[in-house]
Amino acid sequence: MKINLTNIKKAEKILNKNECVAVPTETVYGLAGNAYSDKACKKIFKLKKRPKNNPLIVHYYNPKNLKKDCSFNDNFIKLYKKFCPGPITFVLNLKKNSRISRIATNNKKSLAVRFPKHKVTRELLKKLNYPLAAPSANLSSKLSAVSSKDVKEEFGKNIKYILDGGKSSIGIESTIVDLRNRPKILRLGGLETSLIEKILNKKVLINNNPLKISFPGQQKLHYSPGIPIRLNVKKIINKNEAYLLIRKRKKNRKNYFFLSKNGNLKEAARNLYSMLRKVKKNKYKSIAVVKIPNRGLGKTINDRLLRASKF
Ligand code: TXA
Ligand code: MG
Repeated sequence: MKINLTNIKKAEKILNKNECVAVPTETVYGLAGNAYSDKACKKIFKLKKRPKNNPLIVHYYNPKNLKKDCSFNDNFIKLYKKFCPGPITFVLNLKKNSRISRIATNNKKSLAVRFPKHKVTRELLKKLNYPLAAPSANLSSKLSAVSSKDVKEEFGKNIKYILDGGKSSIGIESTIVDLRNRPKILRLGGLETSLIEKILNKKVLINNNPLKISFPGQQKLHYSPGIPIRLNVKKIINKNEAYLLIRKRKKNRKNYFFLSKNGNLKEAARNLYSMLRKVKKNKYKSIAVVKIPNRGLGKTINDRLLRASKF
């Protein structure tokens, strides 16, 4: 996708007025605002209908900018060097003199930070003299958006501007790793846990039980298309139920939806949210999902489906 500087300029102007703009990232689209501004952060919560106690992720251009707000440690430096910019979010300690809005952090002493890879948003971040608070650009508990069209569907006229960056290439949220003490995964995501373990040279704790709320953002119901979902379904009888499959089948039916051609989990993760949206648009009243292999990005897909199924 070509970078359109006029559009970036437009987004910059709106953000400078402490208004919100949707921005593309390689994981999912974000609903962005000036992370140093209470006004902008309040607007994000309001637009998303997000509970106030669920803090926002903050997006930076580079570690030099982050240094003003957070303290670094060795694990952060190792993971940053290997994976950034990219689909990983770090939870770090906030510095006392940080300028991050207390609305964004809900007065916590930690901050979740990310360096998105998407060219358009990197170009925008480079121009701004503040970082961007940007949770996923969807209404709270609903499906994340992976295109500007999805964002429009979520917010309609309530959003001032959507910076278009095409379809998100990873299509599923970043992996969140808490680095304040012993590294711990708080949310499975677009970067496989095994790759993180390889760099840190140790097993990483995973604190991500979908059935247990360990953090406000980890409500049981999340990523929901708004209709019931059944998991691990071998066969369906009801033609009015959509059937989500991991790979193409020889026998196609109208209510079959394929996440990938040959069962490739990366491709399936990329297509997950748009497929769920499509099913809903086609007015199906429920979704059955085939068993997804629980390895690599399949673990992230299963995490999202399990949360989405708590309808
Ligand atoms: O890929 C992504 O991470 C996308 C793109 C836009 O960057 N953003 C995203 O944001 O998924 P959101 O707000 O939908 O999910 C962020 C999660 C929430 O579950 C929130 O509770 C958690 O991060 N979080 C935010 N601040 C935190 C903190 N200080 N400690 C632990 N978790 C935190
Ligand atoms: Mg979200």
